Amino acid sequence: MKVLILGGGGREHAIAWAVAQSPRCDELHSMPGNPGMAQISTCHPGDPCDCRSVTDLAERLSVDLVIVGPEGPLVSGVADALRAKGIDVFGPGRDGAMLEASKAHSKSFMKRHGIPTASFTICTTLEEAKEALYSRKPPYIVKADGLAAGKGVFISDQLSEALESCGELLGGSLGEAGKTLVVEDGLVGREVSVMIVTDGNSYRLLSTSQDHKRALDGDRGPNTGGMGAYAPVPWVDRSMLQEIEEKVVKPTLLGLDRDDTSYRGIIYAGLMISPQGKIDVLEYNVRLGDPETQALLPLFDGDWLEVCHSCAQGKLSEVSWALKDLCSVNVVIASEGYPGDYEKGHPIEGLDHKEEGITVFQAGTALKDGKTVTAGGRVLSVVGTGPTFEEAREKAYTGAKAIEFKGAFYRKDIASNRDKPKEEGV
Ligand code: AMP
Ligand code: GLY
Repeated sequence: MKVLILGGGGREHAIAWAVAQSPRCDELHSMPGNPGMAQISTCHPGDPCDCRSVTDLAERLSVDLVIVGPEGPLVSGVADALRAKGIDVFGPGRDGAMLEASKAHSKSFMKRHGIPTASFTICTTLEEAKEALYSRKPPYIVKADGLAAGKGVFISDQLSEALESCGELLGGSLGEAGKTLVVEDGLVGREVSVMIVTDGNSYRLLSTSQDHKRALDGDRGPNTGGMGAYAPVPWVDRSMLQEIEEKVVKPTLLGLDRDDTSYRGIIYAGLMISPQGKIDVLEYNVRLGDPETQALLPLFDGDWLEVCHSCAQGKLSEVSWALKDLCSVNVVIASEGYPGDYEKGHPIEGLDHKEEGITVFQAGTALKDGKTVTAGGRVLSVVGTGPTFEEAREKAYTGAKAIEFKGAFYRKDIASNRDKPKEEGV
């Protein structure tokens, strides 16, 4: 098979790594890819959100399957454009991608289909937002409706601060994304993410996982795209997972079906589990998580290309796979200053370190004079796997220590507090 992967981050490198292991994979291409992906695929420059560029490339290469990594291309309708040309795609069309692209849409979807989620109000004016906030207690949760790269959720104990966030959003601080708001009840508990693979008829779950969003140890510092992740989440036992399937997964798929939304790809359900065990959906994403995927795919025991291809063809029920009975820890190495400004172009040493149980995925890297250099905030993911979390952490941190570049930093406490409630805020 000829396969094209869209995207160029750590998640996409992990997807490419998994696909490249498939005996079915004859040719692997990526757009735009990254230097890590270039070792196992042919990278093609271009904007994966541009439908025309993607369909032209896919046709020119005569690919059998396109796997979409990030949400951007899905929201811009790339999957629809490819399907219109008869090309199989792993990833939903634009209508399915609205589950992530619009929080007002996804909250209404949940309400309409009886999927548990925090009670909410959709607002488009400051008056409406005020009323929605006055009728609630702290913590006040304000969310921009549209895509905001993780910067669209505001949590505050102060009414005045929450109102200020509403004013700024409605005033255009996040552009169109904040012109509609969701104000909702605050939830407490522990968070867990569940990635559902579905072709609209059947579904299978990957391992549960959790990410670490804050920049610094102890869940301090600003929010980032994710400084690490681990899988599986140990406190989610079989019976809780069954309840998640009954209360969230099945109603979500039924809801899509009732709405006539054909969906082939991943649904990422971000869940909050209260101390009493109540399950609520915080959000949906329409693709694999980053940095969760880098931790999840090393636990996957099967043929990932076969899964994506069968799913894209609506034949997911024909494939089977197992999840390895291992623990996985992904430590992200970032550039000093991230998530604020950071320098680029520093040479990265130690990338050739090879050790059983350690896998390095590249994200913000570039090639300069034949050398791999830093080119982004989150530069690399170092993933350790082992029979226990202690061993997986040991591997991940051994791998992280072997890598050096000027200004490199990473959290030292990834997966160390696996039973604690997650950090507050986002
Ligand atoms: P979302 O993008 O909606 O998942 O929100 C991002 C993060 O904000 C979540 O992972 C939670 O940590 C936090 N969050 C979102 N909604 C709520 C809520 N209703 N109550 C408490 N925390 C929330
Ligand atoms: N790690 C959160 C996300 O991928 O959206």
